[in-house]
Amino acid sequence: MRASTICVIGGGYVGIPTAAILSLRGHQVVLAENNELRLAALQQGNIPIFEPGLEALVEQAITAGTLSFSKSAAEAVKDCEYVFLCVPTPQDDDGSADLSYVMEAVHEIRAQLKPGCVVVNKSTVPVGTALLVEREISRADVKVASNPEFLREGSAVEDSLKPDRIVMGSNDTHTAKMVAELFANPGSATVITDCVTAESIKYAANAFLATKISFINEAAAFCDAVGADMRDLVLGMGFDRRIGFEVMQPGPGWGGSCFPKDTRALVKIGEDHGYDFSLVRGAIESNKNQFQRVVDKIEALVGDLKGVTVAIWGLTFKANTDDRRSSPAIPVVATLLARGALVRAYDPTVQPSDESSDLAGITISGSAEEAATGAEVLVILTEWTEFRWMNLSNIAPLMGKTNIVDTRNMLDPEAAKRDGFTYLGMGRS
Ligand SMILES: NC(=O)c1ccc[n+]([C@@H]2O[C@H](COP(=O)([O-])OP(=O)(O)OC[C@H]3O[C@@H](n4cnc5c(N)ncnc54)[C@H](O)[C@@H]3O)[C@@H](O)[C@H]2O)c1
Repeated sequence: MRASTICVIGGGYVGIPTAAILSLRGHQVVLAENNELRLAALQQGNIPIFEPGLEALVEQAITAGTLSFSKSAAEAVKDCEYVFLCVPTPQDDDGSADLSYVMEAVHEIRAQLKPGCVVVNKSTVPVGTALLVEREISRADVKVASNPEFLREGSAVEDSLKPDRIVMGSNDTHTAKMVAELFANPGSATVITDCVTAESIKYAANAFLATKISFINEAAAFCDAVGADMRDLVLGMGFDRRIGFEVMQPGPGWGGSCFPKDTRALVKIGEDHGYDFSLVRGAIESNKNQFQRVVDKIEALVGDLKGVTVAIWGLTFKANTDDRRSSPAIPVVATLLARGALVRAYDPTVQPSDESSDLAGITISGSAEEAATGAEVLVILTEWTEFRWMNLSNIAPLMGKTNIVDTRNMLDPEAAKRDGFTYLGMGRS
């Protein structure tokens, strides 16, 4: 394929892998990032986020001479045939997606765009955004495409190299095919569609996955109620190929930078168009209940939380990322603190010196053992591999009382009991 000139705007969880992979495919890529700290890190070959394998990829691209960085999107787009928008779309107060970063970026670049270039939106945006972008650009010589991103934090490199599918929306099929070609991969399906459908696909996919997790979390609560075993239930369901084993593990609730805001945005978009997506509303409600179920399990083991030391293992919304945006740990810990518990937490990506506002009231420990010392209950919230292999017989003597709430069903309940713990999992005990 012919090498193209590409600008990626936004050096975050989506923009960095996108820029690195396009560079390694031989295209000349400029990654524009307006946060000076992030930009400085990138320019020195350091990745400002924790994402396995990404640093090596970026290093390779810099060495190959196909990846460079810029502070100014307006400067960076000047010679580019393709411009990818990978900027944040956080949740607004009413549940809708805040489009200000997208529209500001578009406003910034519109006059500088090279004639014939394609502006491709990778940010997750409400249905109709491509049209807004087109209007803001307001140039007949520039095309717009919608290319929702499906990578998962923690496996972003693999997902970007070998996506299950590439969804490309444009109201001009030739444009959509041209942009899709940049990502073409023998094992990946390509869906070419219009912008409105591409934008809808992203929200529908995330809402479906969130709903599936909520279903499995409720199935675990059901197992708790009737005394069934969750692990065997998942086996018995998952061997049905229509159900499968993907996204079938119960947990403390879904979180992260996408599912919470995208499910709410989908409901809001539906409302704005006169449709009540009640199933997704239900999944959102169920997820809130899941945070409470975790607290209920802790209270079932230790009673009144006032003055009780609770050790938390894991604060990120999933393993292999440093992302705590909308992590289930935040509402769970907030409830524990509100009920008077003393919370000590360990997460491999959080330093004891970290003073981020979401950590207020929590004592951050430098190791899993330190967090557990003196605690009356240990709560596993993130499925970091190191917790799976922790020798519980070494942890038990450190604790005040030997209680475990394993929200990820990572541990062997029988082994935990042999080591003297009272164990509660999700749908198993
Ligand atoms: N994080 C994920 O797993 C994921 C997966 C799929 C889709 N998405 C979507 O992709 C979008 C980006 O998400 P993210 O997690 O990468 O966000 P992020 O916050 O990690 O990164 C966005 C970056 O854009 C930069 N930025 C904002 N405006 C800019 C401008 N005008 N010029 C240059 N840089 C600018 C910010 O400084 C930031 O570094 C969101 O819409 C998100 O919903 C995220």
